[in-house]
Amino acid sequence: MAINYDSVKQTITLHTKQTSYQIKINEYGILLHTYYGKKIKDDDMSYLIRTADIGFSAALSDAKNDRLCSLDTLPQEYSFSNMGDFRNNCIEIEHLDGSVFSDFRYDSHVIYDGKYSLTDLPSMFAETKEAQTLEIKLKSKIKEQELTLFYAVFPELDIITRAAKIKNTGLEEFYLTKALSVCLDLPNQNMDLLTLYGRHAMERLVNRQAIGTGIHLIESRRGTSSHQYNPFVILCDKDTTEDVGDCYGSCLVYSGSFEGTVEGTQMGQVRMTMGIQSKGFRYLIKPEETFFMPEVMLSYSATGFGQLSRQYHDAMRKHLNRSKFQKMRRPVLINNWEATYFDFTGEKLIQIAKDAAELGVELFVMDDGWFGKREDDNSGLGDWFVNEEKLGMSLKELVEKINENGMQFGIWFEPEMISEDSELYRNHKDWAFMIPGKDPNRSRNQLVLDMTRSDVREYLFHQLCEILDHANISYVKWDMNRSLSDVYSAQTDKTRQGEVMHRYVLGLYELLEKLTTRYPDVLFEGCSGGGGRFDAGMLFFHPQIWCSDNTDAIDRLKIQYGTSFAYPIQTVGSHVSAVPNHQNGRITPLETRGVVAMAGTFGYELDVNKMTEEEKETVKEQVVLFKKYYEIIQYGDYYRLSDPYKDDVTAWQFLSKDGTQILVNAVATECRANALAPVIVLKGLDEEGEYRDATGAYFSGAALMYGGYVLPMIHSEYQAYQILFEKR
Ligand code: DGJ
Repeated sequence: MAINYDSVKQTITLHTKQTSYQIKINEYGILLHTYYGKKIKDDDMSYLIRTADIGFSAALSDAKNDRLCSLDTLPQEYSFSNMGDFRNNCIEIEHLDGSVFSDFRYDSHVIYDGKYSLTDLPSMFAETKEAQTLEIKLKSKIKEQELTLFYAVFPELDIITRAAKIKNTGLEEFYLTKALSVCLDLPNQNMDLLTLYGRHAMERLVNRQAIGTGIHLIESRRGTSSHQYNPFVILCDKDTTEDVGDCYGSCLVYSGSFEGTVEGTQMGQVRMTMGIQSKGFRYLIKPEETFFMPEVMLSYSATGFGQLSRQYHDAMRKHLNRSKFQKMRRPVLINNWEATYFDFTGEKLIQIAKDAAELGVELFVMDDGWFGKREDDNSGLGDWFVNEEKLGMSLKELVEKINENGMQFGIWFEPEMISEDSELYRNHKDWAFMIPGKDPNRSRNQLVLDMTRSDVREYLFHQLCEILDHANISYVKWDMNRSLSDVYSAQTDKTRQGEVMHRYVLGLYELLEKLTTRYPDVLFEGCSGGGGRFDAGMLFFHPQIWCSDNTDAIDRLKIQYGTSFAYPIQTVGSHVSAVPNHQNGRITPLETRGVVAMAGTFGYELDVNKMTEEEKETVKEQVVLFKKYYEIIQYGDYYRLSDPYKDDVTAWQFLSKDGTQILVNAVATECRANALAPVIVLKGLDEEGEYRDATGAYFSGAALMYGGYVLPMIHSEYQAYQILFEKR
C-alpha cells in the first residue's frame, strides 16, 4: 500500500517507490510531521522529534503545564495562527467577534485509491490505480469550521501532492486572511535554497543560497505567477549536486499571485510554506461555503537535482495536461512576430508561410495585430474581430490560402486585456479593473479586464468561438502582457475586494476550461510576455508555454536551464529567430540557434524570405533532424551535463526511455585561443553498454560516464554540437 495508517502508533506513512513521508497524530490531535526522505518502513519516526523546555515558547493549552508540548518547536503538517507557533503559519482566520486565530485538531481520515480533485482549480489527475489519496479532516476546537488536508501519492513517480480546503460548517461567517496550501518542517537548517528568479525576457535564472537563520520569501504580487519568481523551490543539502545529495522540491499548481517562504528557525529547523499570496487577500466564507487551496507537488530525490527534475518532468508529462497534444508530436511552427511585428498584410503572411512550408515547417502562427484597430500596442485589445482591411481579405480566405500550402494555421489572442482605445472599452468601461476616482496605471498602455465577472468571460468566450468556429484554426497562442494593478472590481462588494486577485485566476481557469474542452483539436500555447506565467497551473490547460520573449540562443541557455529544473522540455516554447538578435543584438550561428530551440517545442520566428539559400538549406536540415529526434527529446529523460553559470560549454542530454539512444547537445559560450578540445561527461548510461557515435566509433557506457567524450575542437564563437549515440 502506498498509504498506511497504524492505529496503535497513530502514524500515517505515505510511500512512493523511493521515498516516504510520515504524519503522526499526537495526543492532542495535532498533526506532526515526522519524516520526509529516502524510503523507510512504517517505523514510528516521531522519536526524531526533539523537545525541550524552550523559553518563551508557550505550551499548547490542552497540554497545560507540559512545557515540552509547544507548537513553536514541534514539526507540523499545517501551522495555525495565534496558537504560540511564531514561525510562518499557513492559515489566518478572522472571526466575527474580531478574534484572529485557528486551532484545528484531527477528527478523522480516509484513504482511497485514485486521486482527489479540487473544485475550480487545476491539479494532477490519475487513474484509480496510479495514485492513492489521504484526506485528513480536522475540526476547529472552538468554531464550526472544518479543514481538510489532501495528500495524493504517486508511487511510480515519487511525487506526493498536497492541497487543502476549509469549510464553514456553522452559522457564523468568517474571513480567511491567509490560506496557504502546504507547510513542510524539516529538522536541520544547514541546507541550501534554490529558487528561480528573473525579469521579463530573462526569467527563471537560478539562485542558490544558504538558508541559515531568517526568512526567505519568494512571491508574486502581480496577479500572475510572474517572471520575477517562479512558484517553485528546492531545499537541498549543502553538498547536493546534479547527481548526488538530498533535495526536496515544492511546485505550486497555481498561476496567480503566490508566496513561498523558507524559514531557518530559532531552533535550527527549517519551515517551508507555499500557497496563494496573503498580502491583500481577504476572503469571506459564509455558512456552508468551502474554499479550496491550490495543489503543491512535492518530490524528494536522494540523488541530486537531475533526478528530482526527471521526477517532475515525468509527473507533469503524464498527469497534468489533458490535451491530446501531450502524446503527439507538436508541429514545427513559424510565428510572424519577430518577422513583421505589427506591420503585415494577409499577402505578406501568406508569403512567409509559403516560404516556410517549402522548408518543412508545418504550422503558421499569426501573432498580434490582426484584429480591431491595432497598428501598434496602444489600441485594439478587446476587439476580437478581424481587421479585414489590414489583412486585405477575410480570415477564412487567409487561412485557406495558408492551408493550401500544406500549412496549418494558428492565431494569437490576449483575452484578459483591454485597450482604452477600443470599442470594448468605449462600451464597457466598468469591465476594466479600476479603483473608483483614481486614474489607473497603464502598462504597455493597456488595462486589465475584470475576469471575476461572468459577463466579461461570456463575452470573451463568445468572441473567441466566433473566430475559432469560422476558420480552420489549429493553434491558439494565449498571451497576457502586464501585471495586475488597480485591482478593484466594480461588480464586487466593497467589503470583498480582497477576493478579487484570486477570483481573477478562478475566472481565467473557468474560461480556459470551457475553451480547451470545446476545442480539443486546437493546440494551445500559453504566454505572458514570454514566460511570465510559466507554471504548473497553466500547464494543466496549455501543453506548452512560450518560455521567454528573449530568443537569443545564448541567453536561452540559462533561461531553459533554469526552466528545466521543474518543467518538462516538451512544455518549453522555443524558436529560432533572426540575428542580430532583437532583444540583445547578439549574433549566433543558425546551427546554434537550432540546437537551442530543439530543447523545446521548436519553431521559427523570422522572415524566411530574408534568408540566404544556404540558410534555408540549414533550416530544412534542422526540421528533418527535429522530427527525427522528436521522440527522444520530448519523451526521453533529460540530463543537465554542465552549468551555464560556470562552464565554458553548456551541455545537456536526452536519453530515450528504453536507453538505446542518447542525444547530446552542447554550445560553447567561450571561445579561447590555444585551448584543448572540450570534454563532456554523459549520464544515465548502462556501464556495460556499447554506444556508437556519429563517426561510427564505439565507447562503453562506463567510459562515457566516468571518462567522458571529447567534443570536436571549438573553432568559433557559440559553436554548437548535437551528437546522437546509439546503443549496440
Ligand atoms: C508578447 C509575446 O511574448 C510575444 O511573443 C508576442 O506575442 C507579443 N506579446 C505580441 O504583442
